[in-house]
Amino acid sequence: MVDMETVVSLCKRRGFIFQSSEIYGGLGSAWDYGPLGVEFKNNVKQLWWRDNVQLRDDMVGLDAAISMHPKVWEASGHVASFSDPFTGCLDCDRHYRADQIYEAVWNSRWFRALRKTLEGPAARKNEWSAVANWAQGEGKKLAPNFPLKDPKPSIESPTRYPFKGPEDSNFHTFLRALVHAGNSLGVLCPNCGGVKLSAPKPASLMVEIKLGPVELTATKTYLRPETAQGIFVNFDNVLQASRKKLPFGIAQIGKAFRNEITPGNFTFRTREFEQMEIEYFVIPGTDEEWHQRWIDERFAWYQKYGMRKENIRLREHTKDELAFYAKRCVDIEYLFPMGWSELEGIANRTDYDLKQHSTFSGKSLEYFDEETKQKLVPYVIEPSGGVDRSTLAFLIDAHHEEEVRGERRVVLRLHRELAPVKIAVLPLLKKRSEIVETANNICADLKKRWVAVYDDTASIGRLYRRQDEIGTPFCITVDVQTVGDGKTPGDEKVTIRDRDSMEQIRVSISNLETIMADLMEGRWAELVKVCPRQATSGSVA
Ligand code: GAP
Repeated sequence: MVDMETVVSLCKRRGFIFQSSEIYGGLGSAWDYGPLGVEFKNNVKQLWWRDNVQLRDDMVGLDAAISMHPKVWEASGHVASFSDPFTGCLDCDRHYRADQIYEAVWNSRWFRALRKTLEGPAARKNEWSAVANWAQGEGKKLAPNFPLKDPKPSIESPTRYPFKGPEDSNFHTFLRALVHAGNSLGVLCPNCGGVKLSAPKPASLMVEIKLGPVELTATKTYLRPETAQGIFVNFDNVLQASRKKLPFGIAQIGKAFRNEITPGNFTFRTREFEQMEIEYFVIPGTDEEWHQRWIDERFAWYQKYGMRKENIRLREHTKDELAFYAKRCVDIEYLFPMGWSELEGIANRTDYDLKQHSTFSGKSLEYFDEETKQKLVPYVIEPSGGVDRSTLAFLIDAHHEEEVRGERRVVLRLHRELAPVKIAVLPLLKKRSEIVETANNICADLKKRWVAVYDDTASIGRLYRRQDEIGTPFCITVDVQTVGDGKTPGDEKVTIRDRDSMEQIRVSISNLETIMADLMEGRWAELVKVCPRQATSGSVA
């Protein structure tokens, strides 16, 4: 599995993702999508929209405003309880989510270093002196506030190492032993190793805004922390306008904002992000069946676009995790470099939201069931995914490094529908004007249907490598044979190279558009059987 630093570096170098406001030192909690990133992210959104809205008869779309009436957030429960437990270090002023503090320590720089010592031979002989030696050496720099003044922690048995992970109770005991009575959490600061962590208290995730130019009369509200509420408050509008019958759903893609305590892991957790949400309204009693159907469909969706089975899993929420109104919730998790983490949540939200908005607004949000001739409040199944997280997961999953004929090749094996550039047109010799002109003409034609680029800024081997690294599924090469050499007339054919197999076929320019359309449908294997193959040559050809 590729590490996050490699992904961040590739994203910056190739123009997928940049840090927000980088020239001013950057904003750690927001990211900008560059020329390739915006195409890639748009493809994720467009495929989600096509599959979940346009290809279904039971779904419609919506694009609600980001700013909503403040009462929406009272009704939804966000004002009262959309918060995370917060703790701060009095030594270094860093803030953490108290419920994720063990993971933060586990992944901290100083603990990763200390773990090596704990698992080494010196610790097997005498753990505490190994810890003390580490703290007086490497630890001084990595964890300057590590509690070494009174080194009497009660580390009892050497058999507890190695710790299995942040959840391992031996790991917790070890930290508590070091902390003594320094704080009620029983952990050290993930940044400085200090013991002065404040007692956890809730911190609201809501981002407050004031709408209106005059302070006194401005409306105090919030940037939406989820797109879902825009759907609930429009339930009746959509119902009346679309004449839909239950079961039916409303989908929305849009920005959401949360004052996350610890944004991080690149675009995984940010304060500004995009969601793709569906609220699927069903007759109570049919909700469990529909919930399972959506779990299966959404799980299959990621795999349809190439996410590897071994890197994606379902995780059932435990009773303690469930929101008080939810009947059941299942997360789709992806194996990110920092471990299994949520990609999408699929919840059965019951009739909670519609009833809350009905109570707070005074407007009925009931549905009249023609069959039973009765009014009812629908139950809601909510598949709620993150655009940025899906985009990141697809990118990580597609990243491969391999050796081809003694050379290193980095290739993004992105599904062709996700790839930001579909076709690169490359002239074999840029000195030959007929080759360049033909390549440019081909590219201009293909651009009418697909994202295509022309590139002549390096040797063909390098050009292929560049396209592999950004996941371009097909390269078209125009060579001397295409245009002729003055003595022999050209064959008016070009070479198409497949990114994954690196196989090449030779096809007529006149058939190119039809052939590319077939290839975009995934028919490379069929075409290879009927088109003449071209021998591959050169480096990473
Ligand atoms: N309406 C339900 C809801 O918002 P959620 O689990 O809080 O549920 C849904 O969010 C999805 O939104 C997550 O699975 C994740 O993909 C994405 N998401 C949530 N918070 C995020 C953040 N701070 N940064 C990036 N994506 C986030």
